[in-house]
Amino acid sequence: MNDMNILHVTDPHLYGAADGQLRGVETDSSFRAVLDDAFARCEDYAALLVTGDLVQDDGGGYKRFRGILGGLRQPVLCVPGNHDIPELMHRELCSVPFQVCGARRIGSWQFVMLDSYDPGHVGGRLAPSELARLDETLADAPAHTVVCLHHHPIAMGSRWLDGIGLANADEFWRIVDKYRHVRAVVWGHVHQEHDGSRGDVRLIATPSTGAQFLPGSDGYALDHRPPAFRHFELHADGRIDTRLHWIEAAPAQKLASA
Ligand SMILES: [Fe+2]
Repeated sequence: MNDMNILHVTDPHLYGAADGQLRGVETDSSFRAVLDDAFARCEDYAALLVTGDLVQDDGGGYKRFRGILGGLRQPVLCVPGNHDIPELMHRELCSVPFQVCGARRIGSWQFVMLDSYDPGHVGGRLAPSELARLDETLADAPAHTVVCLHHHPIAMGSRWLDGIGLANADEFWRIVDKYRHVRAVVWGHVHQEHDGSRGDVRLIATPSTGAQFLPGSDGYALDHRPPAFRHFELHADGRIDTRLHWIEAAPAQKLASA
């Protein structure tokens, strides 16, 4: 199997209405502008990864999501975020090209999509069943693995965001640390960029396709950065190259009205 390209977009926060705005951004047009750019730059991608907050507490957003991406030939691998409605999300995205949670093998890589949605909380938590599934999946398949979830499993250095991360990150890492074939953990939720590592595991966050949060801020604050997407090149030997693309041409964020 050759090297493969994966596209990562996250936190589109769609509404049922096309003109729905969040933090001064029309989320539908912004999402489309990001995807247009991503597909133009990388035609031969093997999958599109979407790490949560597909909608902004509005079930109508799933129809919009389906309308935008339903015609793709490549799989669209999704996990729920705190603004999603998981039951509805599973129902609305139950057919190809969509896959919500579970695991997916593509070439010499596998993607494990975890549900960190914690009812009634902005922060996330992996239920015992999700932790067990992660453990079993990693034990069963020794392929190079990317673990995907919505909530950040490490501190981001931003006090307010670090209060709404993955509450049981210790349990998560206890499992991941057992396996040498986990190559990366990828998340959304933080609306900002991160590219670090923990031992041999690459730790990656991608900004939203809409408005961004200010990195390093103690309290909630918006950043002026544009929408973005990430391109991964996953090599057959387990190496990862990745590059973030900021979409300057996307609809401007109107901070005054946020
Ligand atoms: Fe979000």
